[in-house]
Amino acid sequence: MATTYREYIWELPVRITHWVNALSILTLSITGFYIGAPFLYAVSDTALPMAAMRFIHFTAGYIFTASVLFRIYWWFVGNQYARWNQFVPTTMERVQNTVQCGLFYCFLEDEIPHSPGHTGMAGISYAVIFTLFLFEVVSGFAMLHLANGGGMVYAIGGGWMLDVLSVGTIRMLHHVFMWCIWIFVIIHVYISWHNDIIERNGLISSIFSGYKFFGSGH
Ligand code: HEM
Ligand code: HEM
Repeated sequence: MATTYREYIWELPVRITHWVNALSILTLSITGFYIGAPFLYAVSDTALPMAAMRFIHFTAGYIFTASVLFRIYWWFVGNQYARWNQFVPTTMERVQNTVQCGLFYCFLEDEIPHSPGHTGMAGISYAVIFTLFLFEVVSGFAMLHLANGGGMVYAIGGGWMLDVLSVGTIRMLHHVFMWCIWIFVIIHVYISWHNDIIERNGLISSIFSGYKFFGSGH
């Protein structure tokens, strides 16, 4: 008799922030790309479509900021698969899981270690991507601080970065990290799809439903 069972892994806040982040990044990248290299004719910085693109960029930026901060809060109150220690290996077991994953991706191991939540490798990649998210938020607020002539929220959100880096460097890094995020997304979707097929555990559907499947044949 088959012994397949399903387990609730990704709580609602994890799934909601995942998709809010993904949709925000898509919106921010299209509008940000336009801000950097306008591909439609615009009369001036305040004329449409530049004004519209900037408005959408900033609105999506606030939504993205709230979502990233909420997910970070959930690192401390969420279930065992959502916690901060899933992103940085703190136990020997987690270190071994990460090493075994690395060997698997180098074709030196036949199987991915059993991980109900994120594998050690996936966790580390998400820690890196959240660092890039935070940089995008802080550098975005730094540019808003300059564009709006100060203000407490902008100053705390990123204005302080102007004392550390020039605005040209901040803008350049804000742009370059957009491409880094997209490199991550391509690899991320490929690996999610690949592991869903080889592990047959419903990985892709799990980020919509919250459930993964385990047991014989999985
Ligand atoms: C993943 C997140 C984000 C991506 C991919 C992104 C992308 C971009 C890109 C490509 C540019 C154009 C840079 C250039 O080449 O000149 C830009 C500009 C800008 N972004 Fe973002 N951005 C993100 C998040 C944010 C956030 C969270 C904020 C703040 C709420 C923000 C505020 C700004 C500002 C103020 C500008 C300059 C606008 C101007 O000069 O008119 N961005 N962004
Ligand atoms: C801009 C696009 C995307 C970004 C930035 C992104 C980022 C992330 C992050 C940060 C996590 C960790 C979730 C957490 O614990 O909070 C995650 C998990 C996951 N994502 Fe995405 N994602 C994107 C798009 C997608 C798409 C399109 C798919 C499906 C085709 C997908 C499938 C998954 C799956 C299955 C997981 C959980 C599996 C695991 O542990 O590796 N993601 N993603």
